[in-house]
Amino acid sequence: MDISRRAALKAGMVAVGGSQITPLWAAAPTRNRTEILRLGCCYYPEQWPESMWAADAAAMAQRGVSRVRIAEFAWTLMEPEKGRYDWGWLDRIITILAKAKLGVVLGTPTAAPPHWLVEQLPEMLPVGEDGRTKQFGSRRYYSFASQPYRRECARIASAMADRYGRHPAVVGWQIDNEYGCHDTTYSYGRADRAGFRAWVEARYGTVARLNEAWGTSVWSQQVDSFAAVDLPVLTPTDHPPAKMLDYRRFASEQVGAFHQVQVDAIRPRSPGRFITHNFMANFTEFDPFPIGDAIDFASWDSYPLGVAAGRDEPRWDRTGNPDITGWNHDLMHAINPAPFWVMEQQPGPVNWARYNPAPMPGMVRLWAWEAFAYGASTVSHFRWRQAQVGPEQMHSALNRPDGAISPGGIEAAQVGREIQLIGAAPARTKAKVALLFDYQTVWTTEIQPNAVNQNHLAHAQSWYAALRGLGIDVDIVRPATPLDGYKLILMPSLATIDAATLEALEKREGLLVVGPRSGSKTEDFAIPRDLPPGPLQRLIPVKVKQTGTFRNGAAFPVAGEGMDGHAIAWREWLDTKLPVKARYEDGESAVVGTDTAWYVGCQGDRDFTVALMRNAARQAGLSTHPLPDHVRMRQRGDLQFAFNYGPDAWTIPDPKPALLLGQRTLAPYDVAIWRMAE
Ligand code: GAL
Repeated sequence: MDISRRAALKAGMVAVGGSQITPLWAAAPTRNRTEILRLGCCYYPEQWPESMWAADAAAMAQRGVSRVRIAEFAWTLMEPEKGRYDWGWLDRIITILAKAKLGVVLGTPTAAPPHWLVEQLPEMLPVGEDGRTKQFGSRRYYSFASQPYRRECARIASAMADRYGRHPAVVGWQIDNEYGCHDTTYSYGRADRAGFRAWVEARYGTVARLNEAWGTSVWSQQVDSFAAVDLPVLTPTDHPPAKMLDYRRFASEQVGAFHQVQVDAIRPRSPGRFITHNFMANFTEFDPFPIGDAIDFASWDSYPLGVAAGRDEPRWDRTGNPDITGWNHDLMHAINPAPFWVMEQQPGPVNWARYNPAPMPGMVRLWAWEAFAYGASTVSHFRWRQAQVGPEQMHSALNRPDGAISPGGIEAAQVGREIQLIGAAPARTKAKVALLFDYQTVWTTEIQPNAVNQNHLAHAQSWYAALRGLGIDVDIVRPATPLDGYKLILMPSLATIDAATLEALEKREGLLVVGPRSGSKTEDFAIPRDLPPGPLQRLIPVKVKQTGTFRNGAAFPVAGEGMDGHAIAWREWLDTKLPVKARYEDGESAVVGTDTAWYVGCQGDRDFTVALMRNAARQAGLSTHPLPDHVRMRQRGDLQFAFNYGPDAWTIPDPKPALLLGQRTLAPYDVAIWRMAE
């Protein structure tokens, strides 16, 4: 083998087995290839001498990076004192990046307001549940509800957009940074109290309606004016749960309103540029769906080991859990259907998790390709060079602090070479399975968990993971989404069923599988008069006559129709005449249903959940392809991707896959892509 071929092979640039050096995608038809795949990186020029900037930009371009996010924490440099702007440094770095043909994503710096601003506006500071004000320092020291702070944010965003909104190198905007990070969604200060009172008054109109909705006849909690409404903190025990839910709704809407102020500032000043926000993994304190409607596409910050290490099973410590990463990719599509970005991708060890292991060799490359498989258009690594100073100096980057390329940087550069050969990829394929997920159910479960081991997100993810392990792609969808085209519709749990959701469910064609605690609360956090699952009884005639929660380790054997396993943590006693699909040992029904709708009255262990999903898929006419735990597949258009998260090789079942990348025997921590037959 000649040297250039070996080098190209090492770089993953040829389909293994071919006799010539073939660009990866040359064999693939170009039709339907609509999305250009890109790499980006997060860059902090303000943390490095200006003499390094030009060389950095040249090296980025040389390593396949074409998008660079800057400025999202640099307010004090942009505006050292109120109204005195210093754009010089930002002008110069944008010019340098433009010369290197790098598209610039400008972050608005509102997650790190300057000291002078906080001095002038102390009421913008957030207040903790203990009633104490959080101080200037670190970042995210503001309350979303502060109207004066929102005005300051509009001002700096407008000033930035006036200056750079039409700059040819500026391709788009990231507003603020990771809303809610560092426990900052909720605040309990004066601005929040005033905002909550106004919100409650707008929602209920009269105090009588408020008292009725909140069920204040319990424990003498009636209020006689909106001015008597306080925030739900600092009391011996629970406030009315309807009030606690309203506070969550209010706080979530504050995030959206805060966001909208900057969108309104930037849109008219920066025509043709995108606006996005970088959401966090598994984050449920606010509902991102309304924000999804106010951005051009969703993006998120993917730190697979930050999420897994020391929290998930030890085997995922150095790879991340494929189904958690997959869930978050799929969630971006539910937030906004346009191709999403990974705005920050883990490049090596992070500094902030319980433990901070280094990824297995191969994973940095794998994560990037995995994001593309799920429909990403851009994967941007955090960050270009490891910081020498500051709180994140132990966080890795594409380059070491001394400037040399890091192990993750080598893998990212390989992806950079690989995607240059593609040019474009097909659009994300609509899945055959829809999984309904909402945030109100998370909040409802947290407000009234009924057991310490209740976690709605984890329950929904257990259904998702079971399907992914059966080789089935899933679309996560919001309530009320039209469900046509889906063969299987999963509702792991949806606490409240509104009219639009019920209508979408009534119009569906696919098999509906409803999980426990669904329809268990009204909009006002009451038990439905006709008992759970409330309005769903129109689709599935079943009533939940009793519930029970159980400690970790307690398990009820369930058997029937190939659905063996155990109910755990949450169990319901059902009143129904529907055919029984699975029973507990004591003869009570666990799963009931017809050909069109099932009700599942428990949370399940892994065996039960996998069996449930296998049976549901079969009934819905979907073929299953069980995969080992460490292997996952994802389809994007006519491309099939496979990812090996484990230490053992795996052989692609197709005897002759039309491979574009990788080999039929998928090595540990490796990626394969092949073109599917017409
Ligand atoms: C993210 C954040 C970045 C950086 C990174 C480190 O949460 O957006 O600014 O702190 O984590 O992993």
